[in-house]
Amino acid sequence: MTTHLLIFMLVPLVACESIYSVDDSAGLGRRFDGIGGLSGGGATSKLLVNYPEKQLNQILDYLFKPNFGASLQILKVEIGGDGQSTDGTESSHMHEPWDENYERGYEWWLMVEAKKRNPNIKLYGLPWSFPGWIGNGTQNPYINPDVTTDYIIRWIKAAKKLYDLDLDFVGIWNERNYDIPYIKTLKAGLIANGFNNIQLVAADGDWGISDDILKDPAFAKAVDIIGVHYPGTTTTNQSVETGKPLWSSEDYSTYNDEVGAGCWARILNQNYVNGNMTSTISWNLIASYYLSLPFGRDGLMTAVEPWSGHYVVQDPIWVSAHTTQFSEIGWRYLKHGLGSGHLDNGGSYVSLMSPDSKDFTMVIETMSHDHSKCIRPGLPEYSVKPQNATFSLTGSLASVKELNVWRSRLTFGRSASDSIFKNLSKIKVISGQITLSLGVDEIYTLTTVATGTKGSYGDSPDSAKFPLPYADDFESYPEFSEAFNWVPQAGVWEVRQSQNPSARKVNRQVMLNPPVAWCALQEAPINLGGSQFWSDLFIQMDVLVPSVNGTSGVMLGARMTQGGCQVGSTDGVFFTVFPSSDSGSFLYIVSNDTARKNILLSGFYAASLGLDVWHHLSLIVRGDSVYGYVGIDSVFQIPSVNIPPTGFVAYGTADYGIADFDNFQVESSGDLRVIKPNPRIPTHKQNIL
Ligand SMILES: *[C@@H]1O[C@H](CO)[C@@H](O)[C@H](O)[C@H]1NC(C)=O
Ligand SMILES: *[C@@H]1O[C@H](CO)[C@@H](O)[C@H](O)[C@H]1NC(C)=O
Ligand SMILES: *[C@@H]1O[C@H](CO)[C@@H](O)[C@H](O)[C@H]1NC(C)=O
Ligand SMILES: *[C@@H]1O[C@H](CO)[C@@H](O)[C@H](O)[C@H]1NC(C)=O
Ligand SMILES: *[C@@H]1O[C@H](CO)[C@@H](O)[C@H](O)[C@H]1NC(C)=O
Ligand SMILES: *[C@@H]1O[C@H](CO)[C@@H](O)[C@H](O)[C@H]1NC(C)=O
Ligand SMILES: *[C@@H]1O[C@H](CO)[C@@H](O)[C@H](O)[C@H]1NC(C)=O
Repeated sequence: MTTHLLIFMLVPLVACESIYSVDDSAGLGRRFDGIGGLSGGGATSKLLVNYPEKQLNQILDYLFKPNFGASLQILKVEIGGDGQSTDGTESSHMHEPWDENYERGYEWWLMVEAKKRNPNIKLYGLPWSFPGWIGNGTQNPYINPDVTTDYIIRWIKAAKKLYDLDLDFVGIWNERNYDIPYIKTLKAGLIANGFNNIQLVAADGDWGISDDILKDPAFAKAVDIIGVHYPGTTTTNQSVETGKPLWSSEDYSTYNDEVGAGCWARILNQNYVNGNMTSTISWNLIASYYLSLPFGRDGLMTAVEPWSGHYVVQDPIWVSAHTTQFSEIGWRYLKHGLGSGHLDNGGSYVSLMSPDSKDFTMVIETMSHDHSKCIRPGLPEYSVKPQNATFSLTGSLASVKELNVWRSRLTFGRSASDSIFKNLSKIKVISGQITLSLGVDEIYTLTTVATGTKGSYGDSPDSAKFPLPYADDFESYPEFSEAFNWVPQAGVWEVRQSQNPSARKVNRQVMLNPPVAWCALQEAPINLGGSQFWSDLFIQMDVLVPSVNGTSGVMLGARMTQGGCQVGSTDGVFFTVFPSSDSGSFLYIVSNDTARKNILLSGFYAASLGLDVWHHLSLIVRGDSVYGYVGIDSVFQIPSVNIPPTGFVAYGTADYGIADFDNFQVESSGDLRVIKPNPRIPTHKQNIL
């Protein structure tokens, strides 16, 4: 603060005033298609679902409620495909061709909640991975365009039939190659099924698709919108030439501190100013996945503690509000040089007008280079200086007498509690002009719209660590839902009725075959949970491998250090037991303690599980000791071995195939006085089947 004031006082600034024309008399620019958030791609809303109801509703209001918070205009969701899609897997509606279910996962629920708050919000679905059968033995989801089209249309139909959700946009395959025959087939399928209003966005990749659109009129007819990812605010001549709406259909992906807010402010304006893009969608909607998973906190706000209810409304929410609370989809941008453009001393401005020309909104940003870098692509150097800007309102805007003013100042450590999204006094239009004195790292909205709210529910509950001890018997969930706090990184788990007569519920790994992967194809399903900071633990779980479609082995693990696309190479302690006595059981300890990742220890132990029988597995990690039990039998006792110091707990299967998991229990092993020979009699459910 002080430094800035000093500079301001001591250095006489040359008063230079630029005049910008804001004029609709020569027609308007492109149609504004809305600002959105992306849930999924993948599993980014996983922890949101199990928030306590009160905080859950508050968070959803901050995201979706019009005239309250981010007031998002588009919700894009992953069409779950059973494969890892960045921070976890999302379940497909058809794990196998003979399987179909629309109660899985949380995207249905999220779309319903968004629509409840804003019936005008637009919905957009896009797959990352696909269930394996779509590839029919290959990793190509386009191998049979009719099959893939039918698979996507079933999802769209179910949205309407079961949830009364009308999809507005559907995409192809996130950030992977597109296939012209498939896109044409999908478009024809949409029309044949009466979904004429659903627009096809392609290809959620780069601008390259524009060349194919220009070459092939039939293909051009199939694609409604060109959607690209992380365009760095620029487009190509070919893309403009297609005449299609251009979208940044995934962008941002930046840590949600003030620099993230600066990134978001800059690209929301400049995607149009530099790149003619009329919609920008944030990956991701809300950071609701464990912070140590890839791209932690790259959401518009953060909610990673369902057990405490703690959440944080970060600045990107209010940056969104600068546009969304004062515009609607269907408004039009003003043309370049006539309401939209660059400011002479750095920064940009865009203007939007309602279809009846009665409402007008201008958003101005002056984000400096270092305070607005996004995660990608690199940002060329530029400078921003304090400046006076005069906007001259002509055409139908000549009748505007005053404008409401909302301002945000990103403070970067300088304290200013009311610096974000503040309603200032109105500004009068004098002789058709308004002049603003713009600082650096500021956002202004000037608008005829008289509403606008910096919504608030006060502070959320205090932050708290993941509870320990922790237990889950999976009885409290509806069938097919996902257990709270567990984040599958490969494979899909569903709460299911157990096959035993007492009709209890279990958490079942249900995938029988590997998916058409979006990132690295994982060989072994694995479900993580707890805290990345956990160290000394006593972990117990009941497991059952069925004789029909069963997996070849089950795993209980600790000190797992990573998830996401790299989960297959996570460090950790893996205790895997196989049903057959020939296979026995295995202990793997993987650690990067040495320069390269090594399997430090892998040993065969005589222990096995019979099929269709419940077994109780225990794993104890304490300091550098590891102990494993099947039932009351000790399998291994290793007093000292190099293991990762902390990490998530895990359970999983040795390959794709069914296994039931139940009665998970974890407590600190630091307090256990006796580790040997057996810490606990196995719990119930032994050999019930
Ligand atoms: C803006 O205008 C005011 C009033 O004319 C002047 O004092 C100030 O120096 C100007 N600022 C800049 C950055 O030109
Ligand atoms: C899958 O591939 C097999 C040959 O490998 C073929 O016979 C079958 O028709 C294909 N199924 C579909 C649905 O494409
Ligand atoms: C794009 O078009 C503009 C004029 O419309 C031209 O100046 C520019 O050179 C073109 N860029 C490329 C890469 O062709
Ligand atoms: C695209 O953006 C450029 C500025 O980058 C602008 O000059 C041009 O008019 C825009 N074209 C269309 C068709 O939106
Ligand atoms: C913003 O502040 C101005 C001036 O105090 C006031 O007239 C206006 O009603 C306020 N707007 C809203 C939406 O509260
Ligand atoms: C096992 O897989 C077959 C197909 O391979 C399927 O028809 C059957 O329903 C499956 N049974 C269970 C219990 O998953
Ligand atoms: C892996 O290596 C990194 C860098 O040396 C270190 O910070 C981390 O603690 C190591 N993880 C484990 C599990 O040893």
